[in-house]
Amino acid sequence: SPSDPDLVERARAAKEKLGDRVFVLGHHYQRDEVIQFADVTGDSFKLARDAAARPEAEYIVFCGVHFMAESADILTSDDQKVVLPDLAAGCSMADMATAEQVAECWDVLTEAGIAEQVVPVSYMNSSADIKAFTGKHGGTICTSSNAKRALDWAFEQGEKVLFLPDQHLGRNTAVRDMGMSLDDCVVYNPHKPNGGLTAEELRAAKMILWRGHCSVHGRFNLDSVNDVRARIPGVNVLVHPECTHEVVAAADHVGSTEHIIKTLETAPAGSKWAIGTELNLVRRLANRFAPEGKEIVFLDKTVCFCSTMNRIDLPHLVWALESLAEGNLVNRIEVDKETEAFAKLALERMLALP
Ligand code: 13P
Ligand code: SF4
Repeated sequence: SPSDPDLVERARAAKEKLGDRVFVLGHHYQRDEVIQFADVTGDSFKLARDAAARPEAEYIVFCGVHFMAESADILTSDDQKVVLPDLAAGCSMADMATAEQVAECWDVLTEAGIAEQVVPVSYMNSSADIKAFTGKHGGTICTSSNAKRALDWAFEQGEKVLFLPDQHLGRNTAVRDMGMSLDDCVVYNPHKPNGGLTAEELRAAKMILWRGHCSVHGRFNLDSVNDVRARIPGVNVLVHPECTHEVVAAADHVGSTEHIIKTLETAPAGSKWAIGTELNLVRRLANRFAPEGKEIVFLDKTVCFCSTMNRIDLPHLVWALESLAEGNLVNRIEVDKETEAFAKLALERMLALP
């Protein structure tokens, strides 16, 4: 739906008043009405780097979800303030691994006698607490665009990886990109005693996958892939690695949101694509590339927005920008110093990956 012209004008005016003091970051899953005000758009990796590259901006307004704003706070200087326009914009996947559960898991690994061999690799989609745990135990963060490089690095440091919190990204990367077998992976369920695993199973595993997932990407299944192939002959299926292993195995191409965009930019006219990722992005890409004769459809028949990403809408953005322009710092995301120090270690290991 088109943006309310009054709100558009208010956002423009507040941004103009703030000038270089504000820098607005927009994740690819954000609504069009928000994306139009982003100074930069990107996937999780690009946005983390871009946030760190703006030391002159007093305010970083993060149009994305909570863990992204936390990461931006960790990577920016202390006098820069990161603002999330709606504090309820969380991520259900990130919520699937709490600091307590992860500490308990580490005890289980210690009991099994393997903790010393285990390197934690945590997906960007995790809380600052989980990132701090990762940094403290010699691990790194990864995103969907560098998961293979992170795992290559981790297996140089140790024999096993504890992958948090997205089991699918962990499994897909291990099996698809690293040549491991499904049997090399076990799933640690934080709601079961000992993760639902025996010490023998833990000792035999190379990848210990946390039982987390993205509810948005979890909606796609093998039927979605088969249906679209039957409906659109010659279609290329391109999916995000947060999809299940069966979907990724059935797809033609797999990649992060940034990778999906780059793939479509270089796709030939007349090509047909079914995209398995969040709907705001897929709709935007379908509209953008239709004039070039590229047919782009959503992989599933039912709509599938990320409800928490969608919480950031134009009214919330206007409110945040106008508040900042009037000198009221609202919705600041600030990670405490101790957590920040260890989380930063893990994030910097990621930024230093070859
Ligand atoms: P990327 O943009 O890094 O591919 O991540 C997708 C996602 O789910 C962000 O929450
Ligand atoms: Fe979290 Fe999935 Fe939404 Fe990304 S798309 S923010 S992983 S719930």
